[in-house]
Amino acid sequence: MPQTETYRFPPGFWWGTAASAYQVEGGNRHSDWFWWEKREMSREPGQRRIREPCGRACDHWNRYAEDYDLAGAIGVQVHRLSIEWSRIYPREGEVDREALEHYRDMLGALHRRGIKVMLCLNHFTLPLWIASRGGYANGNDLLPAFADYVETVAERLGDLVELWLPLNEPNVVPTAGYLGREMPPFRFSPLSFARAFRTLMAMQGRAYRIIKNHFPRAPVGVAYSYFHLQPLRPQNIADELGRKLAHLTINRRFFQGIASGRIGLPLGMGERMADLEGALDFVGINYYSTAYMKGLFPVQSKRGDRVTDMGWICYPRGLYEVIRDIAGQTSLPLIITENGVATTDEEFRIRYIREHLEEVHRATAEGIDIRGYMYWSLTDNYEWQHGYGKRFGLIQIDYATLKRKLKESGRWYARVIRENGFESGVPAGKNQV
Ligand code: FCB
Repeated sequence: MPQTETYRFPPGFWWGTAASAYQVEGGNRHSDWFWWEKREMSREPGQRRIREPCGRACDHWNRYAEDYDLAGAIGVQVHRLSIEWSRIYPREGEVDREALEHYRDMLGALHRRGIKVMLCLNHFTLPLWIASRGGYANGNDLLPAFADYVETVAERLGDLVELWLPLNEPNVVPTAGYLGREMPPFRFSPLSFARAFRTLMAMQGRAYRIIKNHFPRAPVGVAYSYFHLQPLRPQNIADELGRKLAHLTINRRFFQGIASGRIGLPLGMGERMADLEGALDFVGINYYSTAYMKGLFPVQSKRGDRVTDMGWICYPRGLYEVIRDIAGQTSLPLIITENGVATTDEEFRIRYIREHLEEVHRATAEGIDIRGYMYWSLTDNYEWQHGYGKRFGLIQIDYATLKRKLKESGRWYARVIRENGFESGVPAGKNQV
């Protein structure tokens, strides 16, 4: 018999789920991603950088009530969602009031089910009209437009928001878009990488001030994909240097910027950025995996690593290490804003969540202030360039009929929420993490 251990979380710990607008809503035709998908589909199949178009996605735009009923049945206490800038501003200077009211209905629907709202304002996508002027790499055009959008959202929706996230993964956007060529605009340009990164930092600063202006006590955070990196060859100096450089640039500079108000090398020259200093009330951590550095190049996994359907390594301990690293830099409260697994094996999903929660628990037991955990994702959804094959949801979506069905992991998570924890020591499944 395996030994069992009980994991109880601090009283008031928030159990939640996460999703993003573009990945579930469907029909976001004013978004830059929509444009890129069309463009990629016109290329030869072997050359496409986006596997399939998003199309109607989960049709969450029309079926949100059903999804929130299921979230309610799971017992979700906080739902993290995003709104599409391009729905609210489909064209320059033009607010779509109907879309705003629709979002108001959605947020109200969460509240009516007793679910708190964690609202993200920018989850990767941009209105096409902004993207076509250089997107994140052109802060001069983007920033004033973003400020208008945040102002509009704060005015009309702000009373329904408990927790704010102006940005999702301000480090992934420039890295995947301008170094890794995995996301639009699929370019390699270290200069644009640094520009885009600075724009995102400026967006954080600006949004923070605008939201605080309306709601001085509302907590404003960031959902940050803090990379857990290891040298591919442990004793290799180039790999260790690559790891350090990536860690400094992609993990730390953002938070140093918030602490000092300045943009450090290699993203800037130490210059001050207006509004940046102190523009954060909590740190949201998105964590899925560890990865390696081979010199300056990331390597997703090596032979023998246990990986998910994304090809990402399962490495729960990395979450603890990331938490420790962040807690060593800041005394702000932390929230796990994303953690989850792409798999069709429910035993594996449950085990993945449980083992990551054990690491979160370990950190809370050491006195680190972690306020909650949001599982990615409430439902299966459109996994960006990888399309619909990657199933992260606690709720299954049949894409032919759009029928929803609670998975075994959803039932398990409901129990965890009810009991504010779980017993560990479940026998290892065939897909042991
Ligand atoms: C994160 C993204 C989220 C989702 C998960 C799997 O990096 O924020 O939209 O794609 O990965």
